[in-house]
Amino acid sequence: MKATRVAVAVLAASSLLTVGAQPVRAVPAATTAPAAAGHGSHVKTLRQAAPRDLKIGTAVAGGGHHLEQAYPDPFTYDRPYRKVLAREFNSASPENQMKWEFIHPERHRYNFGPADAIVRFARQHGQVVRGHTLLWHSQNPEWLAEGTFTKAELRSILKQHIFTVVGRYRGQIHQWDVANEIFNENGEYRQENIFIRELGPGIVADAFRWAHQADPRAQLFLNDYGVEWPGAKVDAYEALAEQLLADRVPVHGFASQAHLSMRYGAPDQLREVLQRFDDLGLHTAITELDVRMDLPAGGVPTAEQLATQAQYYKTVLDACLAVDDCNSFTIWGFTDKYSWVPVFFPAEGAATVMDDDFRRKPAYFTLRQTLADAR
Ligand code: XIL
Repeated sequence: MKATRVAVAVLAASSLLTVGAQPVRAVPAATTAPAAAGHGSHVKTLRQAAPRDLKIGTAVAGGGHHLEQAYPDPFTYDRPYRKVLAREFNSASPENQMKWEFIHPERHRYNFGPADAIVRFARQHGQVVRGHTLLWHSQNPEWLAEGTFTKAELRSILKQHIFTVVGRYRGQIHQWDVANEIFNENGEYRQENIFIRELGPGIVADAFRWAHQADPRAQLFLNDYGVEWPGAKVDAYEALAEQLLADRVPVHGFASQAHLSMRYGAPDQLREVLQRFDDLGLHTAITELDVRMDLPAGGVPTAEQLATQAQYYKTVLDACLAVDDCNSFTIWGFTDKYSWVPVFFPAEGAATVMDDDFRRKPAYFTLRQTLADAR
């Protein structure tokens, strides 16, 4: 996708000036699509706008923080939500429904219903699915986190889990986040990860091998936040990726979650980071993009904040478009209504591309225009 990059940058810079936070039905597509954009003029959704080799995804709301809100499982009952989900995206990531605590709540019981429903919906709407996640320190069930196991037991618990969950969706998952957030900020293995702590870092390679055996077609990913700028964490992933590849471990990709805050500046070195992994022969992906901001009193972002937010979204999309094998771009929810951000980051919010009423923000239009220009 490199060839289009210059044109993308020029066109998108101009499109930024033309976008606004108008309600969905009030905005004719033409107002956001300069004539020079070609395909852009009749493109109405993100998935229509996207280049053919780039999946445009979202997290599918349910479980996790939703359970403590007035909206435990929006995907199952919010019809307008489902409509937008089907219309705008061709990739879906269960936000919580494939995590251990959700899908494997007791040692000898799995809960596949919610994940099955997402996979079925995705098939019906021509979407691929990103599986999330298999080896992580967080959102593990109590029986696992608090249990006492021998090393051999723990190893077999992980192996069984991977074979069972990955095997169930064999052939239906585009990419699996096999290892999630395994390094801390200093590039050291996280000791909070029970498998790494008890079994040593070699378990990471095993997780990839087992996942590959269970579904040879899925692309298997390393996934983390805080890798949008170069630093110790990125170095650690690069070294790990090189080692895994040298050992012929089936690792296929490296992903940046890209949970961003407007407090810290746009990730203007993300392209270079992704390129380092592309150079190793790996796929790259953006898996959980959102851009949070400090909300003014009253909770409604200013026009200036929304314009800045759009720039952040565009910086991330441009980075992905500029790197050959960046073929999946996922935002972590598309409406502020269900976003995890206000629950986890006090005083910050409005991090997604649509407001509570699914009204599209400048970030939405900027993404769509940038995609259309790249296509
Ligand atoms: C978040 C979900 O959005 C919340 O619903 C849940 O309560 C906590 O987890 N990195 C990840 C995601 O890999 O799984 C996290 O999702 C956000 C940070």
